[in-house]
Amino acid sequence: MAEPTVTVTNNETGKTGELPLIKGTMGPPGIDIRKLGSQMGAFTYDPGFMSTASCRSAITYIDGEAGVLLYRGYPIEQLAEHSNFLEVSYLLLYGELPNEQEMEDFNSIILSHTMIHEGLRRFYTGFRHDAHPMAIMVGVVGALSAFYHDSTDVADPVHRAISAHRLIAKMPTIAADSYKYSIGQPFMYPQNSLGYVENFLRMMFAIPSTPFEINPIAVQALELIFILHADHEQNASTSTVRLASSSGANPFASVAAGIACLWGPAHGGANEAVIHMLEEIEDPKQIAKFVARAKDKNDSYRLMGFGHRIYKNYDPRAKIIRQMCHSLLREQGSENQPLFEIAMELERIALEDDYFQARKLYPNVDFYSGIILRALGIPLNMFTVIFAIARTAGWIAQWMEMMEDEEQRIGRPRQVYIGEAKRDYPRRQE
Ligand code: SDX
Repeated sequence: MAEPTVTVTNNETGKTGELPLIKGTMGPPGIDIRKLGSQMGAFTYDPGFMSTASCRSAITYIDGEAGVLLYRGYPIEQLAEHSNFLEVSYLLLYGELPNEQEMEDFNSIILSHTMIHEGLRRFYTGFRHDAHPMAIMVGVVGALSAFYHDSTDVADPVHRAISAHRLIAKMPTIAADSYKYSIGQPFMYPQNSLGYVENFLRMMFAIPSTPFEINPIAVQALELIFILHADHEQNASTSTVRLASSSGANPFASVAAGIACLWGPAHGGANEAVIHMLEEIEDPKQIAKFVARAKDKNDSYRLMGFGHRIYKNYDPRAKIIRQMCHSLLREQGSENQPLFEIAMELERIALEDDYFQARKLYPNVDFYSGIILRALGIPLNMFTVIFAIARTAGWIAQWMEMMEDEEQRIGRPRQVYIGEAKRDYPRRQE
């Protein structure tokens, strides 16, 4: 049977091209346009990459219409219920769930990398105390490549594995240190007798002078948030990590670029932006005014935490985290706190309003994660940092996959030029 192809005809020039169709395991095929330029003398035009597949990947599958999310084939609902973040990180990195021994070995490797170089800790003092922890994270993670010359040869699979382990292990330490620096408290060293999430919470909230009680509800909620945010196929920050490292840049520098991209309010910065929005609305009676602004074509205002590029059904992560959000607010008896009352009313309106229905703008994962983190007393400027800790597993899994993909080459998009035609430099009157 002939290979499936797509025929493209330029009705201006009459030129026709046959382009191969690349089929995957599930989801839409890709039209292989690599020869489009030479065959048709034209480029594709796709700002925002709405219909562009940048790679073949076996890590995460999303069906936006059906609201499906699979990590290496496992439904996110099942991983959220039965797994933990380090096991999910292993799955994303290596493609299979670890057996008991593999999980034990992976856990001890990660624990052996949780500390950061003392020289790196002096880095923090160069930042203003009121620096946003995401700004500190971008700087400090990028600086890791100045400390680990022994693992920045990206062509060496052993170096790649060490870098992957170092990044997953050190992100919580760097994140907690960013927070401690911003509140002028001493840094807490990791305690490797604790689990990954417990260790992070202790580094965030413990102080040297008093014993620290770990809140099991916070551990359960953060474990879930980390699992749900671990990967999400070729989102903006993951594509940034892939593009940065496609030039051969080391993974520390490339993940720093991913952190910078994640920070934007349209992406990972949305969880923090949700709370700012709820605080700005301030009173449930104001909601209608803000919803009207979000619907007004002449107003760029958007409801933070609503809508998604791919999910035109409910974000499956939002469905999972919504339950945790409501039960946490109930347990804490804070359902009637104005901020959460506004959130629940906003959710109700958005789910009933024609504008949101017509555009399939459902609450996304960031809508609920922002509320949960707030209810847990996590500082607002740490919300996206927490997203970055979780997404490091996905970024580094996608990076590893790209480095092993023979088809991958330096990313270099083209353009449709709309500037001036060639013109001569004006002769000055002598
Ligand atoms: C994340 O890509 C990923 O996978 C991301 C992520 C991940 O795990 O990596 O899932 C994490 O980033 C989740 C999204 C968090 N961002 C927000 O909550 C910010 C608010 N949402 C929007 O900015 C927006 O919905 C985006 C950025 C998420 C999606 O933007 P798109 O796909 O470019 O959608 P669009 O701008 O083309 O909008 C389509 C229509 C437009 O109206 P019309 O021009 O058709 O009349 O929907 C409207 C938009 O104006 N719209 C909104 C809206 N989002 C879209 N209107 C009001 N409020 C909103 N939030």
